[in-house]
Amino acid sequence: AAPTDHESEDATISQGAVEKNHAGYSGTGFVNFDNVVGSYVEYTVNAAQAGTQTLTFRYANGTTIDRPVSLSVNGAAAGTLSFPGTGVWTTWKTVTKDVALAAGANKIRTTATTANGGPNADKLTA
Ligand code: GCU
Ligand code: CA
Repeated sequence: AAPTDHESEDATISQGAVEKNHAGYSGTGFVNFDNVVGSYVEYTVNAAQAGTQTLTFRYANGTTIDRPVSLSVNGAAAGTLSFPGTGVWTTWKTVTKDVALAAGANKIRTTATTANGGPNADKLTA
């Protein structure tokens, strides 16, 4: 099926806030992860059938320091994602990762692994 946009502001957020103060986001805002280890955004992605699918995360990181997150799919660890600096908070870039999804609803969680928190998270397309 064609990829669908899953806006971060509509996802489940733990230790983060929906904000609008940096232009260029899609939808109605983006999620500012709290700058702590463990802050997360969890998206629900429906898959028509089981199989490998590409996850595309759109983000901004106005620092020069990576904002890595751990990825889990339906509670199982699925590696890490690197979110390098984008220059300024209004420059949004994408990072992709291929993961195995189950048929039906999949919980895709991105959890900050450093005290800087995650990047500003715009959306997940999958
Ligand atoms: C700034 C910026 C936020 C960002 C934060 C951070 O405060 O305005 O959008 O989330 O830095 O460093 O995480
Ligand atoms: Ca932040």
